[in-house]
Amino acid sequence: MSELRDGFGSKFGALAALAGSAIGLGNIWKFPYEAGNNGGGAFLLIYIAFIVFLGIPVMMSEFALGRATQQNVFGTFKILAPKTKWYLFSILAIAASIAIMAFYGTVSGWTMEYVWLSLKDSFAGKNEQELALLFHEFIADPYRTIAWQMGFLFISGLIVVAGIKNGIERSTKIMMPVLFIIIILLGIRACTLPGSGEGLKFLFYPKFSDVTANSILSAMGQAFFSLSLGSGVLLTYGSYVSKRNNLTQMSMQVIAADTAIAILAGVAILPAVFAFNIDPASGPGLVFMTLPRIFQSLPFGQLWAISFFILLTFAALTSAISLIEVIVAYLVEERKMSRAYATVLTVGCIAILGILATLSFGELKHVTIFGLTFFDLFDFLSGKIILPIGGILICYFTGWYWDQRILKNELSNNGTIRLRFFKLYIFILRYLAPLLIFIIFLGSLGII
Ligand code: TRP
Repeated sequence: MSELRDGFGSKFGALAALAGSAIGLGNIWKFPYEAGNNGGGAFLLIYIAFIVFLGIPVMMSEFALGRATQQNVFGTFKILAPKTKWYLFSILAIAASIAIMAFYGTVSGWTMEYVWLSLKDSFAGKNEQELALLFHEFIADPYRTIAWQMGFLFISGLIVVAGIKNGIERSTKIMMPVLFIIIILLGIRACTLPGSGEGLKFLFYPKFSDVTANSILSAMGQAFFSLSLGSGVLLTYGSYVSKRNNLTQMSMQVIAADTAIAILAGVAILPAVFAFNIDPASGPGLVFMTLPRIFQSLPFGQLWAISFFILLTFAALTSAISLIEVIVAYLVEERKMSRAYATVLTVGCIAILGILATLSFGELKHVTIFGLTFFDLFDFLSGKIILPIGGILICYFTGWYWDQRILKNELSNNGTIRLRFFKLYIFILRYLAPLLIFIIFLGSLGII
């Protein structure tokens, strides 16, 4: 079976796909405003600490699980823990992917509308109020928002149907380098604006007086979401990684790329925010309402706007396909569906729930469950409930349940790579990571 199974064809391709999953709206749309809300430099430092102590070990574990079995989420636990209920992890993984995709598709649809608006040069001559109005009117328009969302899901589906090598790897190999180039150019441009020093200082100079318990929790949640941890996405992608590649090194490379993009996004956005006197704590609308204002006042502003929103669309797309692939891999391998049928079914379910999320800003604004709109509900359920539980289970499984010789073999490619920090890694998996994740969990539920 494994010779017939599709997989990544090259190390660069595997890295592009893995980094593509990690780098997404979480880095470019969310990180700058989270940093803006939580004291800039201090948030960055805490975030990096979580990335190192939590991100690296959990990512290595997901990769090792997937690559050891070369199976989807369900198959992995069936093989490694037969006659137990561990295979139920796949339900969690599917629920996480659907819930994330339901609201991710909404924001990705907005992003595509903004590519279109930039192409039409619709931001020209508009002031802050007019841009805010444009955004609010657009997100309340059921037809345009749903049309873009469906367009986004359709493109994601097409890539997934084409398979791992010909779809996911081939598309991410083009999109990821483009994304790096655009964000570096935007970062350089932002730093040369008059008054930008203020923004850089905000991002890099830690003001610990602004750190609250809440910002620590946000940093941890952000690390989890940004690295795509806890949902089986990296386990599934890990199953397509060649047995020759070094999983520890790949985890470090993916994490370095993800963190670099988050910081670059901060460098591209925050100095401009300060140069134009915009409040860095403007929240989720920051990108959509303020950046067009900034681009408009730059020479070749329209070109910057087009590149930025294309960049954001690419980032969203390479993450979305990883979320869809988790479910498709399960349906194809365990339920014996054709890839095309599995993708249509998956994207169809996502589309139905996704429409509810999109309408949360218009027609369904007042429909709430536990006081949350559909959009907020999907965000809350995935990020604050399912992913932390998934993370703890991954730590428990690899730290306590799984035979450590097999784990060590997988990470060391049968003893050919020296593992210097194996003991520390196991210690983190067993004690530190579950404890930290449990604390975020309680914190985000408002229990502590
Ligand atoms: N990491 C992506 C981002 O930053 C989102 C994402 C993709 C994700 N796959 C995931 C988040 C799996 C959690 C779990 O936008």
